[in-house]
Amino acid sequence: MTANKSEADRVVIFDTTLRDGEQSPGATMTHEEKLDVAALLDEMGVDIIEAGFPIASDGDFAAVHEIAKRTKNAVVAGLARAGQKDIDRCGEAIKPAQRGRIHTFLSTSPVHMKWKLQKEPHEVLDMVVASVTRARNYTDDVEWSAEDGTRTEHDFLCRCVEAAIKAGATTINIPDTVGYTVPEEYFAMFQMLRERVPNADQARFSAHCHDDLGMAVANSLAGVRGGVRQIECTINGIGERAGNAALEEVVMAMQVRNDVLPFWTKVDSTMLTRASKLVSAVTSFPVQYNKAIVGRNAFAHESGIHQDGMLKNTQTYEIMTPETVGVKQTSLVMGKHSGRNAFKHKLEELGYHLAANQLEDAFVRFKTLADRKKHVYDEDIEALVDEEIATSEDRIKLVSLTVIAGTMGPQSATLTLDMDGRHQTVQSSGNGPVDAIFNAVKALMPHEAVLELYQVHAVTEGTDAQAEVSVRLSESGRSVTARGADPDTLVASAKAYLAALNKMVVRRQRGMQEAVMVGGRRIHSTDTV
Ligand code: KIV
Ligand code: ZN
Repeated sequence: MTANKSEADRVVIFDTTLRDGEQSPGATMTHEEKLDVAALLDEMGVDIIEAGFPIASDGDFAAVHEIAKRTKNAVVAGLARAGQKDIDRCGEAIKPAQRGRIHTFLSTSPVHMKWKLQKEPHEVLDMVVASVTRARNYTDDVEWSAEDGTRTEHDFLCRCVEAAIKAGATTINIPDTVGYTVPEEYFAMFQMLRERVPNADQARFSAHCHDDLGMAVANSLAGVRGGVRQIECTINGIGERAGNAALEEVVMAMQVRNDVLPFWTKVDSTMLTRASKLVSAVTSFPVQYNKAIVGRNAFAHESGIHQDGMLKNTQTYEIMTPETVGVKQTSLVMGKHSGRNAFKHKLEELGYHLAANQLEDAFVRFKTLADRKKHVYDEDIEALVDEEIATSEDRIKLVSLTVIAGTMGPQSATLTLDMDGRHQTVQSSGNGPVDAIFNAVKALMPHEAVLELYQVHAVTEGTDAQAEVSVRLSESGRSVTARGADPDTLVASAKAYLAALNKMVVRRQRGMQEAVMVGGRRIHSTDTV
């Protein structure tokens, strides 16, 4: 990093994990999960958090509004199309923010104007002016985006950008909406805009790149060389289709190669791994093993030659230390001989402070795991404790599970659940062992929720690894995601399914309580109204 950082070389980081990221098919997050992600983004020094698209749904509105209320440092942005209703709804949503931004966009490419908008260029130009002007009634911080900007004719793009700035836009974003551009072209486009648009110096230019050709990060950095001082990106690069530029990659590229990219950001890079894990967990999108910066192999050295070099000097094969991105060295020291104190110490090192009874339960589970498993990694302990915290408040708990699987079929499951203190047992069959388990759960707890996602990950390596299963259920248009971990994949599956149902029960109860708020008086949900 440069010793004397000048404000002119600072690249503002605009995170859109909660908006463009959440648009990835299957990456829906619950309200609480969005709040957790926003809090972490704020803590790690992201400049702008695009919290959602308020007109899209009441849920999106509520998330933007709540994040606007809670965020301490970052600017909170909401997205709006060019219409009045969109902008007004967005203005409402960001109202509680200390610093709120309206991000309004409109397509400018010939193909989008003709087929999507069915409008002539002069009509589009009028809409640009009208939308930015309306947004300025709510906030001085207005960003305007030329959707499909990289496939827009330059003369028309210049006219739109000039008009948007004149109407009061302070940030001009030129998205590569379809991931089509290449670094040289994107660089030249910003140079062209800065040379040709007369009021270009009155706005900050922004890059927003999609990864359809795998160049989103390279394009964003080329944009910076062309004069861009804001990059729009997402944690783990999640986003529409192939995703957006990955925040962790753009931040680390400027940090590690500051000699050729002499720019800086305010992001605390030691929080990148934590952010990646959180986003992966709440979306149930696994991070590719060889993903730059945050993949589990990003700092792993397997070959003998590399290991030998690393032992002599880590710089032989590492261009950054794991610590700079917040990777803790995996430790193998915990095992079946470890005592309570060592376990407690390890938990504190991992950031857990459990109550005495939770600690005792977690310790018993750790001992059981250590008896079954040769190496107990930090990740195993994290999974086990997360599980412990989640189950301590559950109304439905797994008591026992026996599964008959294999080629002889039919596969069946005998399941006993503790439901509000009462034990109930059922036997069910199914098309495979997981189906049999889920049918057994359904027999004991009839419900209408639909299974949207079932995913198994191994938390650590080896056939004795802890399995972590993610399950997403949806009911009445709302979904919950939950995880369960166990060395037995089938037990982990049952736990994940039950955890999701428990979340749903809590949500239903919360919904009922809200529904019986009458005339400002809260009536207990069991009372009749
Ligand atoms: O990719 C895109 O064009 C967008 C805009 C809404 C900014 O996400
Ligand atoms: Zn986008």
